[in-house]
Amino acid sequence: MKEKLLTGFREIFKTEASNVYFAPGRVNLIGEHTDYNGGHVFPCALNIGTYLAVKPRSDKKFQFYSENFAHLGIIEVDLDNIVYDVNDDWVNYPKGCIREVQKLGITLNHGLDLYYFGNIPYGAGLSSSASIELVTLVMLNEEYGLNIDRIELVKMGQRAENQFVGVNCGIMDQFAIGMGKANHAVLLDTGKLKYQYAPLNIEGYSLVVTNTNKRRGLADSKYNERRAECEKALEILKQYKNINALCELTLAEFESLSDKIEDEIIRKRARHAISENERTILAKKALDEGNLTEFGRLMNESHVSLRDDYEVTGKELDTLAALAWAQDGVIGSRMTGAGFGGCTISIVKNEYLDNFKVNVEREYEKVIGYKPTFYVVSVGDGAKKL
Ligand code: GLA
Repeated sequence: MKEKLLTGFREIFKTEASNVYFAPGRVNLIGEHTDYNGGHVFPCALNIGTYLAVKPRSDKKFQFYSENFAHLGIIEVDLDNIVYDVNDDWVNYPKGCIREVQKLGITLNHGLDLYYFGNIPYGAGLSSSASIELVTLVMLNEEYGLNIDRIELVKMGQRAENQFVGVNCGIMDQFAIGMGKANHAVLLDTGKLKYQYAPLNIEGYSLVVTNTNKRRGLADSKYNERRAECEKALEILKQYKNINALCELTLAEFESLSDKIEDEIIRKRARHAISENERTILAKKALDEGNLTEFGRLMNESHVSLRDDYEVTGKELDTLAALAWAQDGVIGSRMTGAGFGGCTISIVKNEYLDNFKVNVEREYEKVIGYKPTFYVVSVGDGAKKL
């Protein structure tokens, strides 16, 4: 892959790149819509992601090119004028990262030629945008010798997305991509920003990501709507408990207070966040104990809660999950990521993999009218220089 990037760079910029970087995509095993409620998430980094070849320039220009957006050609940006521009499309993600570096008071005294290539399926909810952010930040840190701590880079990626691009995401994606470890999932307490690695001991089983191939449409506005609903629930519950985030409550504490929330929708949103947080902690424990059956049961419960209480699944994801649950050799299956389309994650016994794909594809197409796509994924390392 490094060779491919070097060749691509040479063709576009007519010179040799000096370094190549990589940042993965991510998949979340469990802990969905908890990261902006101070709860736990349990994602892992994938072995697919974004590659970036770079060479310093002597002037103050950044030249961006992506093989995935070849029709846009080279996009040139002046180092002293890093502002959001809708016409710059994907380049707004790296621009937001450069801006974050500048906001630290750091003066970048020369520009760069940058050649990107990503193999994360676009719009599938596997965090291609956070992957672009982290590959850019890790590269900037190295190329300019900035010595910024990795967790700080993760936070800068989130700020770029929140403030520059305008998507109000939590910290899970950038964290998983910046801090991931091969063959491990990361249990992150988003309230305290404390984390632990858990070995993914799933020998004999595969992690299967299945893409609904549904266009994501209103995902961002619905996402922000759910956040606002959680904030409303928190505002009400704060009158009775001294808390700063919903997931500081146990499910039992929440149940004893839930009648204080009159609006049933708001109550359900809070119940999802709080129950999901408990499931995530239990799932990590089950994995540590080698109890995959329990892990799978919690995954399935998570999907049901996202379907019924949080209402972010929709027909395509529900169809995929239900079909997976009905197959032999499936330990558990649930939607992963923000929802409203995107992918499910399933744990499938290796000898049943082929059957799983054939049956799910056939039945999904009957109900939805088009085919899903399957990716058997491996868990890789976080962002790095190659
Ligand atoms: C998106 C966001 C994350 C997280 C998930 C839902 O992926 O970017 O921060 O909120 O949705 O768990």
